[in-house]
Amino acid sequence: MSFDRKIRIAPSILSADFANFGAEIRAIEDQGADWVHVDVMDGHFVPNLTFGPPAVKAFRPHVRSFMDVHLMIAPVDPYIEAYAEAGADMITAHVEAGPHPHRTLQAIRATGKKAGIALNPGTPVEAVSCLLDLCDMVLVMTVNPGFGGQKFIHSQIDKIARLRGMIGDRPIHIQVDGGIDPATAPLVVKAGADVLVAGSAVFKGGSVDRPEIYRANIRTIREAAEG
Ligand code: DX5
Ligand code: ZN
Repeated sequence: MSFDRKIRIAPSILSADFANFGAEIRAIEDQGADWVHVDVMDGHFVPNLTFGPPAVKAFRPHVRSFMDVHLMIAPVDPYIEAYAEAGADMITAHVEAGPHPHRTLQAIRATGKKAGIALNPGTPVEAVSCLLDLCDMVLVMTVNPGFGGQKFIHSQIDKIARLRGMIGDRPIHIQVDGGIDPATAPLVVKAGADVLVAGSAVFKGGSVDRPEIYRANIRTIREAAEG
């Protein structure tokens, strides 16, 4: 995949119908999703539990685009190989997940997958300054991770802008995750984000039987983001 900064919409399947992941993934891709975002939670790093490697492996054959796996787990290093083998295209770990995020990124790169590093809202952007050369993406959380449907935290906009400056012309995506909708999308894109995760705002009102709602939701976010 060659690098560019065109806007990508990555629906989070945390907001999908949990009894119907295969059809939900195919529906969002058919309706315009660029990536599929998978939120992995461990009930320890974040107060919620979601998908182990076997679940991610079951999603894989349904994903034709790019499977972006966001690991909200600590420790993270012991599970990297399992999520790589499950078929992730990108693995993103949190900088707060342990004392050695540099080693974590090396481990992700060693699997041959794209590597991302995520920052919680309370973590300063400087936490990733020595890690950028090992990253394909930095994820700026715009809510405290754990649940879909939370309110966007506006103080993260300045963090995105400062990160954009730190990255310069390096081929590193800036992803945002949490509370992204047609109102907040233009703010984060103006600050420098290019990959927009959205759960509630994509799945709201739609279903596999009403996929045209997904199309309208994705289009509305994209148009707002592209201004
Ligand atoms: C938050 C997750 C997000 C979440 C986004 O812990 O990482 O991906 O599902 O959901 P919305 O778009 O509903 O805020
Ligand atoms: Zn996420």
